[in-house]
Amino acid sequence: MTLNIAHRGFSGEYPENTMLAFKKASETHCNGIETDVQLTKDGIPVLIHDETLDRTSNGTGLVKDYTYSELLKLDFGNGQKIPALEDFIAFSKEKNLFINLELKNSIIEYESLESITLNLLDKYSYPKDKVILSSFNHYSMVNIKTLDKSYKTGLLYDCWIYEPGNYCRLCGADAMHPQFLSVLNKKLVDDIKIKDFQINTYTVNDAEYMKKLLNLGIDGIITNYPDLLNQIMQQS
Ligand code: G3P
Ligand code: MG
Repeated sequence: MTLNIAHRGFSGEYPENTMLAFKKASETHCNGIETDVQLTKDGIPVLIHDETLDRTSNGTGLVKDYTYSELLKLDFGNGQKIPALEDFIAFSKEKNLFINLELKNSIIEYESLESITLNLLDKYSYPKDKVILSSFNHYSMVNIKTLDKSYKTGLLYDCWIYEPGNYCRLCGADAMHPQFLSVLNKKLVDDIKIKDFQINTYTVNDAEYMKKLLNLGIDGIITNYPDLLNQIMQQS
């Protein structure tokens, strides 16, 4: 069965990567939530997509230049505050959600982001089969496996990787996380599936594409509209 994964929470309707968006996603009965992890100046992992604050809050500048307590003063929409990764992990564990933690370290190489994230998952004894780490920085995903190979990793990409199944194996990863257009090519899907790796694809907001991807037996669909994907999954 395909996993319905809410992208940055229920971001189609609520301010992305906020506790409100995560709660609303969980109320749609999606299977999981994807979110983006960055580090504050004082090394606290927080959830925000951009390296800068400008698009999603009333702040300006780089996330890494502010302490966590400084960031807590900002409004991320509807009075929402920036969530700490720890709050998200506690919430998701209670709701028994699958979580996809995307490490945002391909523009800024946050030192120790991998170990800080794994330590928090360990602290909450998050079930290993209910979490996957992903990144566009594939060196970081190899690093995760050197820290603790029992955590699953997914490789994010938005191009047509040559022989993706072989590449996944080379990086010691568990899954490929492609932008969805390349997944519509059967040859590329088969190349990954035949080697027994999983495919979680992003970001699918269109009903027709959702249907096509469900028919292809993709393992996970990451969407801003988990409610729409639920409806389509029930019909098919
Ligand atoms: O993890 C899937 C997707 O979120 C990757 O791209 O830019 O939306 O974080 P982005
Ligand atoms: Mg993301």
